[in-house]
Amino acid sequence: MRVVIFNLKGGQGKTSLAINLALTLNAGVVTNDVYSPLEKILSDNQFLKIGMDEEYPEIVEDNMLVIYDLGGWIDRRSIKLFKAADLIIIPVINDFINNQVSINTIEEVRKHSDKILIVANRTEKNDYLEIKSIMDGFYKNDKYPILEIKKTTAFSKIFEKGKSINNIIAEDKLLAFSYREVQRQMQSIVDFIKNI
Ligand SMILES: Nc1ncnc2c1ncn2[C@@H]1O[C@H](COP(=O)(O)OP(=O)(O)O)[C@@H](O)[C@H]1O
Ligand SMILES: [Mg+2]
Repeated sequence: MRVVIFNLKGGQGKTSLAINLALTLNAGVVTNDVYSPLEKILSDNQFLKIGMDEEYPEIVEDNMLVIYDLGGWIDRRSIKLFKAADLIIIPVINDFINNQVSINTIEEVRKHSDKILIVANRTEKNDYLEIKSIMDGFYKNDKYPILEIKKTTAFSKIFEKGKSINNIIAEDKLLAFSYREVQRQMQSIVDFIKNI
């Protein structure tokens, strides 16, 4: 199974989602980023960096989940991947510039696949509702599901500890209390993937 995480703009939470999904679902991660912080966290057999001219590897095992953390450009290889993907997650942080780029991102992706899940990321206050209303305005007859991850320090903890949010919570009662909502939100994304 292939899950692509993509946005034309950086800083939307692609790598953050990728690491927690990989650690939670024991998935492999493939990236085309020149530098990826995942190199330090995931072992060599769970992480693969692809150079500019290299092809993405074929998935040999059908039941294996591979997450593609794709840097912000579209080339021949990414189009092939969009077509083959079981799901394309587009994380979006709500502000004027990001929203325009995210709409452009969805426009590019939907040329090749409609298996799109939008994640309203780093949300505060009305961010989720604002993103939802923007998306509803654009895609009236063709709504894409939207899940939410609120603004949280959990992702820096995940990177710091190299553990999934579930494992962090299992080990630390105080963090469990702070992170219970974001854990529930992450679980919704995990469940979405499990249900495809
Ligand atoms: N839900 C969130 N709450 C707070 N900070 C977040 C959240 N998601 C991502 N970040 C932070 O935003 C920055 C960019 O995230 P990253 O995953 O590297 O984005 P991308 O891979 O899309 O460039 C990182 O510092 C990350 O810790
Ligand atoms: Mg990244």
